[in-house]
Amino acid sequence: MKKRRRVRKSAVFVIFVLLLIIALLISMIAKKVSDNQVSEPKQEKTTETKKENKKKQTNLPKVKKIDQSGDPYENTVTVSDLDSIYILVNKYSGLPEDYEPKDLVDMEDDYANNMYGTLTLRKEAYEKFKEMCNASRKDGVKFYAESAYRGYNYQNIIYKNYIDENGQEKADKYAARPGFSEHELGLALDLANIWTITTKGEEYKWLTKNAYKYGYIIRYKKEWEDITGYSAESWHIRYVGVKAASVIQKENITYEEYYAKYILTKKSSK
Ligand code: DAL
Ligand code: ZN
Repeated sequence: MKKRRRVRKSAVFVIFVLLLIIALLISMIAKKVSDNQVSEPKQEKTTETKKENKKKQTNLPKVKKIDQSGDPYENTVTVSDLDSIYILVNKYSGLPEDYEPKDLVDMEDDYANNMYGTLTLRKEAYEKFKEMCNASRKDGVKFYAESAYRGYNYQNIIYKNYIDENGQEKADKYAARPGFSEHELGLALDLANIWTITTKGEEYKWLTKNAYKYGYIIRYKKEWEDITGYSAESWHIRYVGVKAASVIQKENITYEEYYAKYILTKKSSK
């Protein structure tokens, strides 16, 4: 009798321990489920915020990889996100025929040769250009814009004129084919004093030292001809913004190299 009671007691104890273990397991599973429910949206929010910050910090365009391994104009890409100031335009990367920047502004006579029609430029580039001209004039150096925004048709006329005068091979060294000129972005300028700007002149010297402070780069230098595909142009400047221009100045690289290093890889250009 006593033995049966002891067996019953042990059985009750074992059942009690088993129930305790089951209760413990249920509570652990419940906690895990509820933790997941809380942490998932948190994670999403963090990624979202990071994405937003990255966008704000860099303001980089959505870009396609530009393959520059083949012959010029052979395998070209048509760029998108055209309003970005970082767009790379060269013999491998062109613009749609009907592209016209939305924020072109007229340049004032003080900063442009408007004798043959009022020159235009994108607003941000123009504001910075005026700042740059005013600073250079304080230093006693004067230049102004001789050519600024050019539409597809105008670029076509220029390119065809070069062909008529020099033949196709030389034309391709001096002028971009229509659809492939930075002038079509409204972010490039050809400068002049009363003469052409040369590498020996004080304007060029001033620009090589100071243009980056206003977001401008000298786009086609002699030592870069193999990369840019154009003969040196001491008068042609391109607006890329102060951040990019400062890196280009510091590293003394072409815009092609800057683009590959900092834009395609989405690295910060700080
Ligand atoms: N002269 C430069 C390359 C242009 O035509 O855009
Ligand atoms: Zn030019």
